[in-house]
Amino acid sequence: MCGIVGYIGNNDAKEILLKGLEKLEYRGYDSAGIAVRSEDDINVFKVKGRIATLRDAVDEKVQSTTGIGHTRWATHGEPSETNAHPHQSPSGRFTLVHNGVIENYLELKAEYLEVANFVSETDTEVIVQLIEKFVEEAGDTLEAFRRTVELLHGSYAIALLDAENPEEVYVAKNKSPLLVGLGDEFNVVASDSMAMLQVTDQFVELMDEEVVIVKQNRVELQKLDGTVVERDPFTAEIDASDIEKGTYPHFMLKEIDEQPFVMRKIIQEYQDDNDDIKLDKDIRKAMKKCDRVYIIAAGTSYHAGLIGKEFLEKIAEVPTEVHVASEFSYNFPLLSENPLFVFISQSGETADLRSVLVETKKLGHPALTITNVPGSTLSREANYTMHLHAGPEIAVASTKAYTAQMAVLAILAVDTARAKGIELDFDPMQELGIVSNAMEALCDQKEVFDQIARDYLSTTRNCFFIGRGSDYYVGLEGALKLKEISYIQAEGFAGGELKHGTIALIEDGTPVIALATQEHVNGSIRSNVQEVVTRGANDCIISLEGLDREGDAFVIPKVHRLFTPLVSVLPLQLISYYAALHRDCDVDKPRNLAKSVTVE
Ligand code: F6R
Repeated sequence: MCGIVGYIGNNDAKEILLKGLEKLEYRGYDSAGIAVRSEDDINVFKVKGRIATLRDAVDEKVQSTTGIGHTRWATHGEPSETNAHPHQSPSGRFTLVHNGVIENYLELKAEYLEVANFVSETDTEVIVQLIEKFVEEAGDTLEAFRRTVELLHGSYAIALLDAENPEEVYVAKNKSPLLVGLGDEFNVVASDSMAMLQVTDQFVELMDEEVVIVKQNRVELQKLDGTVVERDPFTAEIDASDIEKGTYPHFMLKEIDEQPFVMRKIIQEYQDDNDDIKLDKDIRKAMKKCDRVYIIAAGTSYHAGLIGKEFLEKIAEVPTEVHVASEFSYNFPLLSENPLFVFISQSGETADLRSVLVETKKLGHPALTITNVPGSTLSREANYTMHLHAGPEIAVASTKAYTAQMAVLAILAVDTARAKGIELDFDPMQELGIVSNAMEALCDQKEVFDQIARDYLSTTRNCFFIGRGSDYYVGLEGALKLKEISYIQAEGFAGGELKHGTIALIEDGTPVIALATQEHVNGSIRSNVQEVVTRGANDCIISLEGLDREGDAFVIPKVHRLFTPLVSVLPLQLISYYAALHRDCDVDKPRNLAKSVTVE
């Protein structure tokens, strides 16, 4: 996590860095800082808190055309001004920002550095102190930089200013994402192209263990051994308006509302002129060849994976396992003969997934990444990629990427079924069209969900979500959404499991939100609701048209039985949104979280 930016050119560096950091705040927002070079000095401004606070702390009078910046999600050392980046070497000559985790920082500190010289608790300070230690011996900054980078174990995207070399910014990366942006008479550095779309749409992707010297009119990429690397830039195809809130009060609400359009975009992208599914032939072959799919994901994407398993098994008859990425290595399953690993990740950067990918690649197994960011690490490193086409998701709580993941998994399942000659009695694109219309109808009824949030969640300490079958999986996602943005203790349970322990927590007025969208379990989930109501719960049943009964709090429009999860989650997203709003929570940037989780 954390985000870094850098600029070297002719314009006001402060403003470009601050604007860039505002766009990277999704990567972490507990502290921030910039360093800009003035005539004869490096000026560092750091704060605990958000970029808005940093903006207030920056001295407007400082003129500069070069600088680096950082927004932090704390790993080593609490969020504080001292631990905020940039960090400086003891003499003040070197100034550095870092995204990632240096796993051997304690060993490096003990072996090379004076413990008394450290001012912060961060792993990052070790890097900048090593550069200063090596510079004399190495002869120049680039060599000291390279020597330092060679010693680092872990993940890093770093940018360095040297007070004695004003014409250059030094950059390196390993595992953490980093791009260099190219301009006319200026160049930039950023963890994500979004940060620098304000000045350019031309970017060069950096690979692991590369160092880059960024000058105003030149960018030189090198491998660690000094070999020069040539790489063409790509054009970032993000529309700048996609990363603005427009008239919406929050990105989350905008992104919830975008879901019907995302469904249509997915239909458009995955359907050819003959109404067949448009899919990379190699993916089709890999799916046909594999005897078992292993889905690896985290958080919301894991919940999409659970629905993906339903699709792959019920539609394509492919046995499928779903694993929480961070646990996979400890519970390495007995693999089938021809496994296919499917990594589901909105950001394509989640470190927990990447470490599984590295491990399974070593074993020679093929991998497919399903992501919203096609140039991301997981996309580059897997054999195949399927793009979500959801557009940038800025709110920390994932909404449109989740429904896009389920839609893309459904398309993959249908394509595989067809490739295997399995007859299907539905047209997935037509059904996704119906899903899109149903989503639109739900987005038009926000006041109902606002009222449910007021009635059930304004003051409660906890809340339960129950369901059976795919409704259970959607309940897990509803609970995650609610807890992450409203801080209400929320848990999702299989309806039948409550009586095995959790029912002890039901008290007078405890909200229980139940999903009833599956015909084969409609009776049994309603019995589970009765069990909790008898013990005082305040029930809120969300059902599907045709399965509804008197007293249900909301009835969602009918969609194909397999596709109900794509629709039934919208009420839960909106209820969570309004609950957070009524409790005065920061909807788009909930505490302790970051959008892109690049630490294990
Ligand atoms: C919750 C949320 C997280 C992510 C998880 C994985 O709203 O967004 O649970 O789903 O951190 O992130 P990705 O999908 O980027 O791998």
